[in-house]
Amino acid sequence: MFFCTECGAEVSKWSGKCPVCWAWNSLKETSRIIGKKKKSKLEGLPNFEGLKKNRPELLKDIKTGTQTRLKTSIGEFDGVLGGGIVPGMAVLIGGEPGIGKSTLMMQVSNQIAKNGKKILYVSGEESGQQIKLRSKRLGCEAKELYLLCTTNLEDILNSIADLQPDIVVVDSIQSVYLTSLENSPGSISQLRECTSLFTQTAKTGNIPFFLIGHVTKDGMVAGPKIIEHMVDTVLYFEGETQNQFKILRATKNRFGSTNEIGIFEMQSNGLKEVKNPSQLFLSREDNNIGSAVGCVLEGTRAFLVEVQALVSPASYGTSQRVALGFDQRKLAVILAIIEKNLNLNLRNNDVFITLTGGMRVFEPALDLAIIAAIISSYQEKALPANTLLLGEVGLNGEIRPVSQSEKRLKEAQKLGYENIIVSSRTKNINKKLIVTKIKNLRQLFPILFSK
Ligand code: TYD
Ligand code: MG
Repeated sequence: MFFCTECGAEVSKWSGKCPVCWAWNSLKETSRIIGKKKKSKLEGLPNFEGLKKNRPELLKDIKTGTQTRLKTSIGEFDGVLGGGIVPGMAVLIGGEPGIGKSTLMMQVSNQIAKNGKKILYVSGEESGQQIKLRSKRLGCEAKELYLLCTTNLEDILNSIADLQPDIVVVDSIQSVYLTSLENSPGSISQLRECTSLFTQTAKTGNIPFFLIGHVTKDGMVAGPKIIEHMVDTVLYFEGETQNQFKILRATKNRFGSTNEIGIFEMQSNGLKEVKNPSQLFLSREDNNIGSAVGCVLEGTRAFLVEVQALVSPASYGTSQRVALGFDQRKLAVILAIIEKNLNLNLRNNDVFITLTGGMRVFEPALDLAIIAAIISSYQEKALPANTLLLGEVGLNGEIRPVSQSEKRLKEAQKLGYENIIVSSRTKNINKKLIVTKIKNLRQLFPILFSK
């Protein structure tokens, strides 16, 4: 058989392009387990005996009371899952090598075991001693934390049946294999069968499963896309490997929203939760030329982000425009808006923008802060102290309000920003706050550089 790594389609003949989803070069050769075919008496017709056992139920009669979530006491982790672990859920955790997936799952296992649950941690990548050394460093001394170092799927399922754990962690789905398949571990058919057996066990035994997955060079979990479809929740652990801050993000969640993120910091004794992310993304030195502060929302949380800009005369040929942390095209739009509305000649200048802390931002609320940073660097003047800018900028230079401004203003107030610039259409502003309202970009200049 040939099997498409993008859409999961099966075809019997190889071709350069998948006949179903039209992806190029995605068909990989694989073998398939074929069980004995059961002969039904009524061939071709639905099996009426089976129907009796599994009949439709009324939605209103299905009870939900039994679904209590298990808390891990690591707030950032619970938050990303949507408020804790749901019985029988299958979770896939992807991330680059060395980002801290094993560390995170070891700490989570330890926390749950401390709360009196039985955990089975299966590792196909490290030896028992290696894990012991790491767990010592992490201070994991929970009692009911069982370790199994194997890559054989039958062994794992047998141990689960013996031990009856409350939670199972499998350190790397790519390392386990089923002996009845000839393919090597990590191949498509192994991944598909192993994931499917694990999710079935999770559902039938009502045991939550955490499967750690490797990622390919473009950052997706290695293997066919359908292993992401098979599980209930897909989490990605991301961040620069050099940067000590890591972000856990849900890209799929059948039991909660995918907006929440969890922020962790890697320290010498493991991952620590970051409860106050605003401080992390601010460098907070006053009178910084080319720096402006804005506020972004991630899920239900608001935090402050510092934008830094460097505008300098282009020395060779075409000027360069580099945006780190947001879309390059957005920078082009913003520069065009500045040129048109403020008559600044940025054409012969290189413009570089970065967001501190390796943040990535997709929402438009940071537009005004980006513009202020660019102007500040161009003018070589720092913005007034404790200034924060909130606003989306339209193509004609009009300033639009941002979503959930109350939440953002509260965060700004908490961190001592007194000089806040917002759109004139922003509603429900706390009376105690001193804000400057502006309608369009032309009003921004005198406010920032009047003194
Ligand atoms: P690890 O969890 O092994 O990553 P993964 O399973 O995602 O490949 O951890 C990777 C890095 O974390 C490793 O390079 C060292 C670092 N680290 C610390 O800085 N402090 C610690 O306490 C631990 C356990 C790891
Ligand atoms: Mg690992």
